[in-house]
Amino acid sequence: MSGAVCPPCARWAVVCRDEQVWLHGRRLARHDLAIPTSLKEQNLNAAAVVPAAGRGERLGPGAPKALRELGGVPLLVHAVRALTRSRAVTLVVVVAPADGVARVRELLDSHGAGGDEGPRVLVVPGGGTRQESVRLGLAALPPEVDVVLVHDAARPLVPVDVVDAVARAVADGAPAVVPAVPLADTVKQVGPAPAPGQPEPVLGTPDRSTLRAVQTPQGFRRDLLQSVHDKALSEAVDATDDAGLVERYGGQVVLVPGHEEAFKVTRPLDLVLAEAVLARRRANDEF
Ligand code: CTP
Ligand code: MG
Repeated sequence: MSGAVCPPCARWAVVCRDEQVWLHGRRLARHDLAIPTSLKEQNLNAAAVVPAAGRGERLGPGAPKALRELGGVPLLVHAVRALTRSRAVTLVVVVAPADGVARVRELLDSHGAGGDEGPRVLVVPGGGTRQESVRLGLAALPPEVDVVLVHDAARPLVPVDVVDAVARAVADGAPAVVPAVPLADTVKQVGPAPAPGQPEPVLGTPDRSTLRAVQTPQGFRRDLLQSVHDKALSEAVDATDDAGLVERYGGQVVLVPGHEEAFKVTRPLDLVLAEAVLARRRANDEF
């Protein structure tokens, strides 16, 4: 029996619909899930998949976003370094723009992030959507990998503590783990404007204290992530993040604390902020 299928309901979850708790085919008491163990103690092998094949349209014209520079170093190189700094990660699969595999390989090597030291780094071609790119990254994983961390190249400054916390939570028994932060802004749910250019009507205000903004790396048992991607492909289902696919197929996703510096570089102002964060880190490292 594989990692996280609940036999009574056949759903991919540690806690299934009938509230039984199963892990590795063993029925557990709920408190068993709280035992802290490291990946190594559990003999788990974690790889990271880094989708980096997007065009970065919202960032404006220029090179693909993952190759844009932050402090003179491509965003992707920052992201790969953040992952390889974690002792949990044994392999990184970078998913590059389909026509940019050689360039990405070269960039990683020239910045010393190509895997000569530390975890191995593979580069594979990506697809037309983030979901497709993640699927192509998963397809490149060797059989011995059993935990996968999916991390956006567009989140170059994620602290290693967040990477470790996600990996640890998966090792501790959660099959799908997402780092998240509380929202600063109040969020409104809106309906369509009556006509183009007209104001949008507000339909409601969700209670902000129950909302979280999610980040990456998102961590999964590999068999779970593979299974939801396979189902999504066969049913033409799209989700904006991998955890969304797990939720869609009835799996339980849990959150661990994220970090404000794990923000996604999406628009030009995000690059300005990222430069400032990096400059502060470099200044602090010097003194
Ligand atoms: N991504 C990918 N393959 C795609 C689209 C996105 O690997 N076909 C990756 C991006 O490279 C990024 C991550 O998914 O690291 C998050 O996506 P997003 O921030 O939306 O990046 P882009 O799609 O590049 O940006 P935009 O939507 O503004 O074009
Ligand atoms: Mg996008």
